[in-house]
Amino acid sequence: MNTVANLATIPRAVIQTLRGQPASDGAGVKLTRVIGQPKLPDLDPFLLLDEFGTDKAEDYIAGFPDHPHRGFETVTYMLDGRMRHKDNHGNEGVLEPGAVQWMTAGRGIVHSEMPEQREGRMRGFQLWMNLPAKDKMAAPNYQEFGSEKLPVVEKAGVSVKVIAGQFDDAVGPVRQPATDPTYMDIRLDAGVDFSLPVPVGHSAFVYVYEGGLSVGGSREAATIHAQELAVLGDGGEVRLQGRAPRSRAILVAGRPLREPVARYGPFVMNTREELHQAFADFQSGKF
Ligand code: CO
Repeated sequence: MNTVANLATIPRAVIQTLRGQPASDGAGVKLTRVIGQPKLPDLDPFLLLDEFGTDKAEDYIAGFPDHPHRGFETVTYMLDGRMRHKDNHGNEGVLEPGAVQWMTAGRGIVHSEMPEQREGRMRGFQLWMNLPAKDKMAAPNYQEFGSEKLPVVEKAGVSVKVIAGQFDDAVGPVRQPATDPTYMDIRLDAGVDFSLPVPVGHSAFVYVYEGGLSVGGSREAATIHAQELAVLGDGGEVRLQGRAPRSRAILVAGRPLREPVARYGPFVMNTREELHQAFADFQSGKF
């Protein structure tokens, strides 16, 4: 039997790998759905992970016009391009390249997420993180940080941008006590070995978006290619090795909530009754 003490010294193994699936959302934006597809409907507390990335304006120009959310958080991390968001509570802004928006929908918002450009590359991620029952009806909240507010740790052949969680002395600015998230954007050169601590007991995944990485301990490492997700078993650290001239990946972890999930589209609650209430409240303009 593993105790927490010895799990902390164990590198996390890859327990599932899967490839993102082509999908379309909003008003017809083409994207790659990674979590939230049939092979991985969720990974408590993560409900969805989409990668959007294209140089073709027709794939993103329609954007995500007004739509609601209740009961969870949407985390948008932009790599390239600019996206304007606007909600029904008077919040509005433009996400620039390298920025993150950690939006707590709580009891409800209606917002749009529209490209602030007519050409050029648009690339980034949207992650949905669940909220515990006690926070699902909290007031909506934004944590928004430009690239300059996100610390980067540089080492030989490695660069780690810390959005949430801690690596070395760098602490990501996002605060979320319920799920205590880790969110790192990692760049790794070929052949470089690298490990990061991740809290024991947290759900964790690595998603490679450029190049390829080997993930796991020395004996049972798995090679993960671009647009593939590695779901990690428990342990206290993640070991990575670059398998391409330049590899890029996100490492994300969070404390599982272990609560019932009732979800339908943009509403994620604990019970069917709460889902019905969400529909009724949205339709009567209570968001
Ligand atoms: Co949205």
